[in-house]
Amino acid sequence: MPCRLLRTIALPLFFVVAGGSNASGQSLRQLSDRTGVLIGTAVRPEQLSEAAYSSTLAREFNLVEAEDAMKWWVVRPDAQTFDFRQGDQLVAFARAHGMKVRGHTLVWGRSNPPWLTERHFTREQLSALLQEHIRKIVTHYRGQVFAWDVVNEAFDEHGWLRTSIWHDQPGIGSRVGSTAYIEQAFRWAHTADPAALLFYNDAEGETVNVKSDAIYLMVKDFKQRGVPINGVGLQMHVFDLSPDIEGIDANIARFTALGMQVHITELDVALPTNADGSVRDGADLGKQAEIYRKIALACLRHPGCTAIQTWGFTDKYSWIRSTTKGSKGAALLFDSGYLAKPVYLALKSALASRAQHPVTARAPAQ
Ligand code: XIL
Repeated sequence: MPCRLLRTIALPLFFVVAGGSNASGQSLRQLSDRTGVLIGTAVRPEQLSEAAYSSTLAREFNLVEAEDAMKWWVVRPDAQTFDFRQGDQLVAFARAHGMKVRGHTLVWGRSNPPWLTERHFTREQLSALLQEHIRKIVTHYRGQVFAWDVVNEAFDEHGWLRTSIWHDQPGIGSRVGSTAYIEQAFRWAHTADPAALLFYNDAEGETVNVKSDAIYLMVKDFKQRGVPINGVGLQMHVFDLSPDIEGIDANIARFTALGMQVHITELDVALPTNADGSVRDGADLGKQAEIYRKIALACLRHPGCTAIQTWGFTDKYSWIRSTTKGSKGAALLFDSGYLAKPVYLALKSALASRAQHPVTARAPAQ
């Protein structure tokens, strides 16, 4: 049903309006400042030296997140070393341009260096390594990273805890199958920076389903027992053109009703592409724009949904091409030449509609 709906209302207007990032006179960032909902994007610090990249970034966004620069494999080349250079570059850029920074991510079963995953550490050794990692990185960025994805993608699509070195291989807690290891990570992060907002972040749980049910139960339990968690990140990588918008809305509603902030953390909408990366069906650009607009509106409707962040902003550097082995791409706001796509205007229209009736974002949960 939502699929048919999208097809009929795909806005023809969007096909012809591209290129002028100031089409409505205001950037995404200016509109965002008026709504109280942050507009963010994932950043690769190595691209900051590219003028078009950094000027677009500074003009359009007031929130940045390290796409990879704060992950274990970058920060921890070996067990003794903490390499903050890339993360520091991003934080410096953000500070210079008055942007907030989200940290991503402290605990994940992926993106870990081989020395960590292959050395067969004991449970006690792993626990000490993780505690030290969280303490050092969160302390290093104290006062500069305002929100952390403490734990990323801990659940599988059936709502079971995923196998990972942190959970059960061998794990850092005493019980396999329990969320105790996640709880422990939140407690360590809170100790290192009591003012940072702490998020649980995941994919495939954006709508109401068995996976988001499992996350909901965990968060509710944490909340009831005083575990320091402030929010839930909904990644929102969209790979088909008929996402369940009503379900996303209902899911945001139930998490915010729990007192959680919700951040949309990794929004992109992948389109089928040709071998050269061009969009296979031009009509998909309108459908894509409509999906972005509706997801943004779903967030903007709920005062507890306080950030909309895309996973990169130019198709030139999107992760979608590599993760789909070249079959999909064109998932972001600007094309490879930094021309604004229909999606850009769609996001602006969503923000503009809210800017006229701002919702005051609630004070961060403690
Ligand atoms: C991806 C990055 O975009 C790639 O550059 C990297 O090679 C692999 O990780 N969910 C997440 C992100 O939480 O960290 C992932 O980022 C995309 C899926």
